[in-house]
Amino acid sequence: MEPQLNPYNPGSGVPPRFLAGREAEIRAFDLLVARTELSMPARPMVLSGLRGVGKTVLLNRLKGIADHHGWLTLKLEGRPGEEGARDIRKALARELQVASRRYVSQIGVGPVKALLRTVTSFSATIGIEGISLGVDVDPARARTGHMDIDLQDVVEDVGAALRGLRKGFAVFIDEMQDVDDELLAALVTVQHHAVQNELPFFVTGAGLPNLPARLADARSYAERLFDYRQIGKLDPDQAAESLTVPASQMGQSYSDDALAAVLEASGRYPYFIQEFGSAMWEVATTSPFTGDEAHEAVRIGQQRLDAGFFPSRWDRATPRERDYMNAMAADGDGPSTTGAIAARLGKKVTSLGPTRAQLISKGLIYPPEYGQVAFTVPGMAGFIERQHQELDELG
Ligand SMILES: Nc1ncnc2c1ncn2[C@@H]1O[C@H](COP(=O)(O)OP(=O)(O)O)[C@@H](O)[C@H]1O
Ligand SMILES: [Mg+2]
Repeated sequence: MEPQLNPYNPGSGVPPRFLAGREAEIRAFDLLVARTELSMPARPMVLSGLRGVGKTVLLNRLKGIADHHGWLTLKLEGRPGEEGARDIRKALARELQVASRRYVSQIGVGPVKALLRTVTSFSATIGIEGISLGVDVDPARARTGHMDIDLQDVVEDVGAALRGLRKGFAVFIDEMQDVDDELLAALVTVQHHAVQNELPFFVTGAGLPNLPARLADARSYAERLFDYRQIGKLDPDQAAESLTVPASQMGQSYSDDALAAVLEASGRYPYFIQEFGSAMWEVATTSPFTGDEAHEAVRIGQQRLDAGFFPSRWDRATPRERDYMNAMAADGDGPSTTGAIAARLGKKVTSLGPTRAQLISKGLIYPPEYGQVAFTVPGMAGFIERQHQELDELG
């Protein structure tokens, strides 16, 4: 088919042409917006799931809804380590300034003067020069240098201004499992405060499956504070639609055999659907696409995943960390118990603790339960297996 018309979009955070499923989350967020505009309480949402299931795309879609309703919104991304902690604070202050300024240009300074002063104070405390909002620092607000206290001032003043306008203040945080302990605890504390004080402030988070546990570790009441949604593979009808709808928009279709082959290979994971769909489009010469063409597309799609999606994770691991993941791969997509891994490697569980911790911090594995680990990337075990086969073939 014409490459310039390829309707599939494999890539991290790249919006699909057709967003399959996820109606429940979109509906829940629509409801949150509607209730907020009626000054009714609503519960903030946290999305969690493996890599490539479509969390970023969904988070951006939810942000689009809030933007469409004229809310004040920010988008942040967690990254591990000290640098990540520094960067997200700066991004928070900068995004607040930008969003506030955009807001003022819509409604004028009058109703939001206190908001502007507090945001200016907060930015000064974080150490951001940035853009002037045309007001002075409020020395009594957001000036302590303690994230939880200063953030609470921001949420009180921004929240109060927006409540007066029947709008909301929403902070969208991707890769939230990588946000540092201090900021994570501050966000949960401030969210809790907002709920109690009927401030229309909503943290909306997305992250790996260990995100709910990280939030609960930060503050035990986080368990009841958020509406947790697990984002996973698509159901069979949705997965089929995410292949057939983009094709039919371009006037093309799948034979039953072709659709079954591509669906099977994708495991109904959105990223894989896009990758195999894209290869299907390249291979196909007639419509409906044939089963034989689909098998060829699956082969090409698999090669691309093995050259891109999987190695982009695998290559970050040290030799010792790879040994650990090799031992995990014996359990397929897992989970594996830390005891079984230790036994396979002929080591003690405790001596493997640092390796396990490193792999978690690099986002390659996560602990689904105490004493267990699993890959954050679906199909990782298969990739590891294929690598071994390649090595064996080379002799
Ligand atoms: N609901 C969906 N239907 C079809 N494709 C999707 C859907 N959600 C995501 N995708 C596709 O899957 C890929 C991964 O999406 P992304 O949001 O980056 O996943 P995650 O953030 O969970 O790793 C992208 O190519 C995107 O276009
Ligand atoms: Mg993502």
